[in-house]
Amino acid sequence: MTRRIVIVAGGTAGMGRATAVARAARGDDVTVLGRSRRDLPDGIRFLAADLSSVAEVERVAGEVAARHDRVDALTLFANRPLPRRTETADGLEYTFALYYLSRYLLGVRLAPLMGTTSVIVNVSGVGTTAGAVRWDDPQLRGRYGLVRAQLQAGRANDLLGLAHDGEARYVLYHPGFTRSGLDGHPNPLVRGVLKTLARVAARPVERSVAPILEWIDHPPAERLTTSDRGRAVDLSGREADARRLVAYTQDLLGR
Ligand SMILES: NC(=O)c1ccc[n+]([C@@H]2O[C@H](COP(=O)([O-])OP(=O)(O)OC[C@H]3O[C@@H](n4cnc5c(N)ncnc54)[C@H](OP(=O)(O)O)[C@@H]3O)[C@@H](O)[C@H]2O)c1
Repeated sequence: MTRRIVIVAGGTAGMGRATAVARAARGDDVTVLGRSRRDLPDGIRFLAADLSSVAEVERVAGEVAARHDRVDALTLFANRPLPRRTETADGLEYTFALYYLSRYLLGVRLAPLMGTTSVIVNVSGVGTTAGAVRWDDPQLRGRYGLVRAQLQAGRANDLLGLAHDGEARYVLYHPGFTRSGLDGHPNPLVRGVLKTLARVAARPVERSVAPILEWIDHPPAERLTTSDRGRAVDLSGREADARRLVAYTQDLLGR
């Protein structure tokens, strides 16, 4: 197997970290993008960036492009649920900026380095039917809720995969309830319930990342692959929404 060049956005914990560690152990050139290195092992390159900021995403994408003439895999994990509506430095709703917009921007900026044997794996919630992009208020100024924001960004990621027109193969992956991210919930009560539930019902991280490792070794032949715990998800009929989201996003970014 040839040495793959792998970028892991949000790879300091949970499934992102497990992916980075597993690929480095296979001899890949792995770069993690994240806020702080935490306990990443030596041998994994770390680029510090708060991915909720457009400028930081642009900078770090530039650093990747300056170092590499190709990227074989871009894997997207960064997310963080917030109990109250928070605005980023760009004046955007935080979940939208981190969970959706950073993934859009990294895909666009790294597209010139990626060909048909490259893969982008967007780890989110494809197959979930709850939630929607709130076209009348995508920045959730009028009504915010943690779940509402998470579901909106999740559905935006579905549309992002559907709109993808680069050469790289695109995978939308829902890993199912996994023993990761359990410290991320801001409410201690919910956190406790989640942790108890996770002990009996959640998948081990290694099991959830196994398909990701496989897609990195063998990018799918199809332009878009959807996998909700291994089940393909039909996104047809939502192409107009996908185009609408691209237009909204480009407008937000001022181009
Ligand atoms: N766990 C599940 O049951 C489950 C189920 C379905 C879908 N998913 C999705 O799978 C993805 C990964 O989940 P996970 O459970 O592995 O989550 P996790 O353990 O909480 O990891 C999230 C990663 O995102 C990073 N991150 C958070 N805010 C960031 C920022 N502003 N800039 C840069 N990096 C940031 C975190 O790093 P720091 O906080 O250390 O900076 C961490 O490395 C998420 O998109 C999640 O929605 C998870």
